[in-house]
Amino acid sequence: MKVALIGLGSVGRGVAEMLAKKDLGLTITGIADSKSAFMDPAGIDISRILANKKKNGSCGDQHLTAEDVIKKADYDALIEVTPTNALSGEPAIGYIRAALSRKKHVVTSNKGPIALAAKELRAMAKKKGVALRYEATVAGAIPVMHTLEHGLAGNEILALYGVLNGTCNFILTRMAAEGLTYEQALMEAREMGYAEADPTYDVQGIDAAIKLVILANTIWDNGVKLSDVDRTGIDLLTPDALRLADEEGCTIRLIAEANPKKHLLRVSPRILEKNHPLVNDGTLNALTFETDMAKEITLIGRGAGSIETASAIIGDLLYIRDHYVQRA
Ligand SMILES: NC(=O)c1ccc[n+]([C@@H]2O[C@H](COP(=O)([O-])OP(=O)(O)OC[C@H]3O[C@@H](n4cnc5c(N)ncnc54)[C@H](OP(=O)(O)O)[C@@H]3O)[C@@H](O)[C@H]2O)c1
Repeated sequence: MKVALIGLGSVGRGVAEMLAKKDLGLTITGIADSKSAFMDPAGIDISRILANKKKNGSCGDQHLTAEDVIKKADYDALIEVTPTNALSGEPAIGYIRAALSRKKHVVTSNKGPIALAAKELRAMAKKKGVALRYEATVAGAIPVMHTLEHGLAGNEILALYGVLNGTCNFILTRMAAEGLTYEQALMEAREMGYAEADPTYDVQGIDAAIKLVILANTIWDNGVKLSDVDRTGIDLLTPDALRLADEEGCTIRLIAEANPKKHLLRVSPRILEKNHPLVNDGTLNALTFETDMAKEITLIGRGAGSIETASAIIGDLLYIRDHYVQRA
């Protein structure tokens, strides 16, 4: 199967490296970053492109753009891994529309288009007879969407609870373990590369809320928006709050939760017993589904990272290969 890769940052590089390393029958025929692009219908030499990108910051021809690749390259599936814009969803929404209109399958790790325009994009994909898959948008490497689609098929999902932001989990882990202030733990998270220079999206619960919106709309198709989420971040938590929780055998985690029957859609710091399945240290993510038949199912794993996120994207690509391309 031929794929085009738009975005060659942390995730795009991870995907390219894994496709070059593993013999999965997936050939990259188009590639683009913010300033350049490259196309070869016979397959691109990924090692050369990655070396080029590392050396001079460009992945190919500066006269070509991502739009050129999406609109002209020879591919079956587009891999869209450009930065998330949670306000407009662009340029990703435009890229995805352009690929779908050419009857190309789309795999994305980008939360913006899925949180803002999933209904429209899913309808467009259905009309064109192609797939739109977005496993990597929620909880990185954890196969959340595959579990919902296959492992829990036939179950009614009653509610979900999750730790969906690794940066907050790291900060809370460090505050509890060492009695650090929020500011000290944030500084450590930055030094470890777990927090952005501007950590607002993470620490104010916006990133977790966007993922909660994606999950709720995927499971219940209830048209919820980011503004519907009742949201409190971790940036006002004090070491005293964590110490008091500790005295009761508990700790604090930023929990995203949804239960449509209770009209619950919330991200907030919650006190949990230390042996609760959602209490995991460091940057781990965890997600519990409450279902009618399987009862409670908890998934735990890495919520971010170059290769970890590539795992989710490649899972989606292989699903498309096996269920659409090889059957065509
Ligand atoms: N990093 C993770 O662990 C992770 C996990 C799950 C989901 N995600 C999501 O995956 C996406 C990619 O994340 P990332 O960490 O790889 O981001 P990143 O390191 O910032 O890389 C983004 C890439 O997109 C390119 N780009 C920017 N604007 C573009 C445009 N208009 N057209 C074409 N390419 C453009 C950039 O080009 P230049 O190289 O020229 O700057 C860069 O190569 C984001 O939406 C993120 O939220 C990331």
